[in-house]
Amino acid sequence: MSNAKWADRGNEVFIGTYNRFPAAMVKGSGCRLWDADGKEYLDFLAGIAVCSLGHCHPRVTEAICRQAGTLVHVSNLFHTLPQIELAELLVAHSFADRVFMANSGAEANEAAIKLARIHSGPGKFEIISLAGSFHGRTLATVAATGQAKFHQGFEPLPLGFIHAEFGDPQAIERLITPQTCAIFCEPLQGESGVRPLEPAYLGAIRDICDRHGLLLIFDEVQTGLGRTGALFAHEQLGVTPDIMTLAKALGNGLPIGAMLTTEKIAASLVAGSHASTFGGNPVAAAAAVEVLRIMLADGFLESVRATSRYFVERLEEVAARYPRLASGVRGRGLLLGLVLTEQGIEQGLVIVQRLFEAGVLINFAGNLVLRFVPPLVVSTEEIDLLIEKLCQVFDGLA
Ligand SMILES: Cc1ncc(COP(=O)(O)O)c(C=O)c1O
Repeated sequence: MSNAKWADRGNEVFIGTYNRFPAAMVKGSGCRLWDADGKEYLDFLAGIAVCSLGHCHPRVTEAICRQAGTLVHVSNLFHTLPQIELAELLVAHSFADRVFMANSGAEANEAAIKLARIHSGPGKFEIISLAGSFHGRTLATVAATGQAKFHQGFEPLPLGFIHAEFGDPQAIERLITPQTCAIFCEPLQGESGVRPLEPAYLGAIRDICDRHGLLLIFDEVQTGLGRTGALFAHEQLGVTPDIMTLAKALGNGLPIGAMLTTEKIAASLVAGSHASTFGGNPVAAAAAVEVLRIMLADGFLESVRATSRYFVERLEEVAARYPRLASGVRGRGLLLGLVLTEQGIEQGLVIVQRLFEAGVLINFAGNLVLRFVPPLVVSTEEIDLLIEKLCQVFDGLA
């Protein structure tokens, strides 16, 4: 059955929350996808920074199949082996001592918000996040998200979420009240246009938290797990949070999230205070264990950094060649954005659409930049192919 027929069937039954490309994807391998018409795509979206090891990585697929044939679900009324192994790996390779398992980024962030509040005690419930941030689509994470377009129509939102102007530590400090319990931010804003937070700015935020007795929460749902060339983006920035959330790349496509923190802070969540039926499901956890083993192997993160250097150079060439459309490159590791000029921004959606037609998948983040989040295993030849197609599309617009 063709893409068009699948799309018709889908459009008959789904609530229209997504503006989908007119393709039904049926198969993936590495950095390639195939649709129902048999068309091949070069994937620089990776399920929105999820399939970091590429589609259907053989070792992850093997781990999923093995676990699916052994034990699929028992709830968190019991211990399960993959979940323990996963938590051990996360603790061994991060600042954290304790882990709570969830199913998604928003759910991991909900856990972080609840922990910050309960740990800080009665009356201390306000959380300051940043303008332009994105933290998820549940009501609390929508409220934490610093973009009005995600709030509209869903008011009244949960109380206690305050947004500070991006880039100025004093703007955050001015918003602190006796009710404030935490500062919540992404080390690099992905959804609003690939905006990195500079080390000095993050250092100043850490300092504010220390001086005012606030918790620092890093949302590493998109930046975590190798995406920026380190296991966690904050490691490159010299700033350690008190709480960190992960999701996206953790299961390489299986839904799993995690909230990590220190022993002392974790003690505030006791039996019955928070839970998830599926959180840390054995099959998703088995996938995540394999993901971490692969990412922690010698040379993996170094190769992400080397690929990133090559990709940045190639994107800078594009920016230099098309100054009318693009003004520069920003981001870290393989979370990169080609910043568009005003004229480029007008064409942003057309560029994404034409690349799609040419068999290349990217997206337009924050209506500002062309965002590239390929699998971390992308080759230089695949980057060259993307650049070639991008230049062809830009030539067509000139
Ligand atoms: C930084 C960040 N936090 C949270 C989320 C929400 O994650 P999920 O869609 O898994 O709930 C996202 C998703 O894009 C994200 O980029």
